[in-house]
Amino acid sequence: MQSTDLLKLSEEFGNPLYIYDATKIEQQYHRLTDAFSKVPALRINYAMKALSNITILHLLKNLGSGLDTVSLQEVELGLHAGFTPDKIIFTPNGVSFEEIEEVAKLGVQINIDNLSVLEHFGTKYPKTPVCIRINPHVMAGGNENISVGHIDSKFGISIYQIPHIIRIVENTKMHINGIHMHTGSDILDIEVFLYAAEILFDAAKNFKQLDFLDFGSGFKVPYKKGDIETNIEELGKKLSKRFLAFEKEYGRKLTLAFEPGKFLVSEAGYFLAKVNVIKQTTSTVFAGIDSGFNHLIRPMFYGSQHVIENISNPKGKERFYTVVGYICETDTFANNRKIAEIHEGDVLCFRNAGAYCFSMASNYNSRFKPAEVLWKDGKGYLIRERETMDDILKNQILLDF
Ligand SMILES: Cc1ncc(COP(=O)(O)O)c(C=O)c1O
Repeated sequence: MQSTDLLKLSEEFGNPLYIYDATKIEQQYHRLTDAFSKVPALRINYAMKALSNITILHLLKNLGSGLDTVSLQEVELGLHAGFTPDKIIFTPNGVSFEEIEEVAKLGVQINIDNLSVLEHFGTKYPKTPVCIRINPHVMAGGNENISVGHIDSKFGISIYQIPHIIRIVENTKMHINGIHMHTGSDILDIEVFLYAAEILFDAAKNFKQLDFLDFGSGFKVPYKKGDIETNIEELGKKLSKRFLAFEKEYGRKLTLAFEPGKFLVSEAGYFLAKVNVIKQTTSTVFAGIDSGFNHLIRPMFYGSQHVIENISNPKGKERFYTVVGYICETDTFANNRKIAEIHEGDVLCFRNAGAYCFSMASNYNSRFKPAEVLWKDGKGYLIRERETMDDILKNQILLDF
């Protein structure tokens, strides 16, 4: 998207504002399906936790995507957006058994990552096919909060516990139709991913009625020019070949599944916020924006470094700024960052704001969540209204004590 288009949308819809470029989402979806075009049965389940606006979900559905969900509410949103239950997989962690039951009753594929839940579910619903999430104990991931495949992670059933899984399956006569792993976000080295895939293939041999192998996600996307990104094309070539060989060896048709979030929507997103104040101190120049970690928590939570552009003065002389929010505690988006000269009232644009940005926004400081806009065919469409005081008050009860 061009800065001029972003600036126009900021004038039309106000700030702070999230904008998503439909074309970029489509391109990323096709990049992935093209990379794995040699696999006859490929299934992309969009990890909707990344960005769950129902128009985005609907757009991905129309591209042919399935859906990866982690809560009953996500499943309900997915159904609302037009996905059929057979296109949805539920991969929860630590949720109640009742929640799993409710989702299973909707006809959604269940993915279980806990031995006691597996035993309980298999005993009660032996006829409902279940996928198993294994933990391959492979360390991947750029930040310790999103690295989930290692030995101390709370996710998945350890590959060392496969004998126990087999015992449960034999005792309950349950049907295991899929096997899954997700090593974490930000895979830098596809050899590590392929190594983990071998562990999944080995685990799969223990189950004779599989319909799919789910390799999770964790594809790294670039945040700025020159950043390392997961080489999807090379991964596609290597993993497809290995997958097709395994399928032959296994002797049964299998679907290859992925569940990308960031890869599909991160680069499509732009977050716009107006500069309220410029403040010189003894050590830096602060640019204080009309937003905070209530709207974009990734820099504070994960240390993510979003590119920030001054779209009001794109050709201005570059100077060093510390970009901060208005929350009354440390709320830093960027330190000592070179940005085209900023004046109060300018609009800053944060790149890579599609994944885990709006979906992690809160009402902290009783602020309204921003509006969301979809940019499609040269036009901006409002897909979520900016909140108002009614939203803040909606579920609150004023008692006159
Ligand atoms: C089980 C599972 N699958 C998929 C994803 C999506 O990962 P990413 O956004 O890195 O593609 C996550 C992210 O937390 C996850 O936990």
